[in-house]
Amino acid sequence: MQLRFALLGLAAPAALSCDTQQELEESRVRTPTIHNGQGASPSVGMAAPLTLIPQDAGAESAACLDGSPQGFYFAPSATNSTKWTILIEGGGWCYDEDSCLSRSKSDLGSSLNWAPTSGCGCMNVKDDATADDVDPIDHNCNCLYLRYCDGASFSGYRADPWPVPSSPGSTLTFRGIKNFDAAVDAALHLGMSAATDFVLTGGSAGGLSTFLHADRVAAKLPATATVTAAPVVGYFLDHGNYAETDANYTAWMKYIYSMQNLTFASDGGLSAACQDLYPEDPHYCFMSPHMHPAIETPYYVFNSKFDSWQLQNELQTTWENDDEKAAVLQYGVDFDEQFKGVVAEEGNGGFITTCICHGCAWDQLELEGRNSLQHYADWRLGRVGGEDAFKIDARGPNGDGTIDLDSCAAF
Ligand SMILES: *[C@@H]1O[C@H](CO)[C@@H](O)[C@H](O)[C@H]1NC(C)=O
Ligand SMILES: *[C@@H]1O[C@H](CO)[C@@H](O)[C@H](O)[C@H]1NC(C)=O
Ligand SMILES: *[C@@H]1O[C@H](CO)[C@@H](O)[C@H](O)[C@H]1NC(C)=O
Repeated sequence: MQLRFALLGLAAPAALSCDTQQELEESRVRTPTIHNGQGASPSVGMAAPLTLIPQDAGAESAACLDGSPQGFYFAPSATNSTKWTILIEGGGWCYDEDSCLSRSKSDLGSSLNWAPTSGCGCMNVKDDATADDVDPIDHNCNCLYLRYCDGASFSGYRADPWPVPSSPGSTLTFRGIKNFDAAVDAALHLGMSAATDFVLTGGSAGGLSTFLHADRVAAKLPATATVTAAPVVGYFLDHGNYAETDANYTAWMKYIYSMQNLTFASDGGLSAACQDLYPEDPHYCFMSPHMHPAIETPYYVFNSKFDSWQLQNELQTTWENDDEKAAVLQYGVDFDEQFKGVVAEEGNGGFITTCICHGCAWDQLELEGRNSLQHYADWRLGRVGGEDAFKIDARGPNGDGTIDLDSCAAF
């Protein structure tokens, strides 16, 4: 039984630093199998081997923050399927040189201690999934689980090592977009060049990566392939914090933009289609609520409007008193407001829960009597379209207290 990771971080006092808070949450959102909603046993690749991408001395090589090789786990289909999923690992971001240096000594910044095998989780939909099928996912896909070790959702690139001012002699390697491109190229050689049905997915920071890079991988796939994206808990609001200080998430993302040299060049990590949208605020192209109009690939958003990571790290509350609770309710209103832009775009879909979760139990969360994966399949198979493809819980936190799942934090 896959653990559903209780949100222990919620009990933490407000004074707990964001980095510590983030580490707590990260340790719960990295496991790949939780992101596809299946929880237990993906039917492919329980023992997919680790492949490390070869490096040379050049400045183009894929690399983790510590300079070690980037890598992935690949589980080929047992049935010669031409369906493919690339599942991108999550794990937050490092917002400055110091936090990147400490990350470079962990599995989120170095491949030195990565496990030799891992599972993966398909997000392709069965062609013949019926509306009643409570598990419409086709688990026989070719599944590539892409490890995350660059700290910036696969978007940075610096040719040369970057110094850490507080630690003379220490350097960081920023090669996120090279990591993404190298893994996609490896997948193409492994048979993805013949894909007929492709899904890019990932949770948390991997959900942001999914928004950011869906079009990039789509451009390398056969024009005949059906290409979609399924960002999971990757819709991080542009939002200030409860205390209204300048230590807010948007400011942190802006610093990453400059530190990691995020650019719109063809070999840079941001979508060129976003470049003209925010000339004064180019870092908005690193934030899903701002950059989504640039995305051409159809996508389906799995998210909570009361995402527990966002409430802790963006709103920076533990909602223990009435004022904080009111701020959480307002956060849900603000989510609806920002998300309107996604709903207005033709071709997309989404399932927005009010469960207070970040590692959400997507196979158990229901609206209109059916789980999120069933609604996802309706969208993918064309059974719904337009605004009907969005199922947005209109209630307050945890469905006004009626959603009784361990993975929803108490309110
Ligand atoms: C998969 O393809 C290989 C090579 O084309 C073939 O040898 C094998 O029999 C196929 N397996 C299945 C289950 O169709
Ligand atoms: C910043 O990124 C661009 C695009 O990838 C690249 O051409 C440029 O060399 C990078 N700058 C540095 C200092 O590495
Ligand atoms: C976030 O912080 C920056 C400065 O770091 C400030 O300019 C901005 O107004 C803040 N944003 C919000 C929404 O509070």
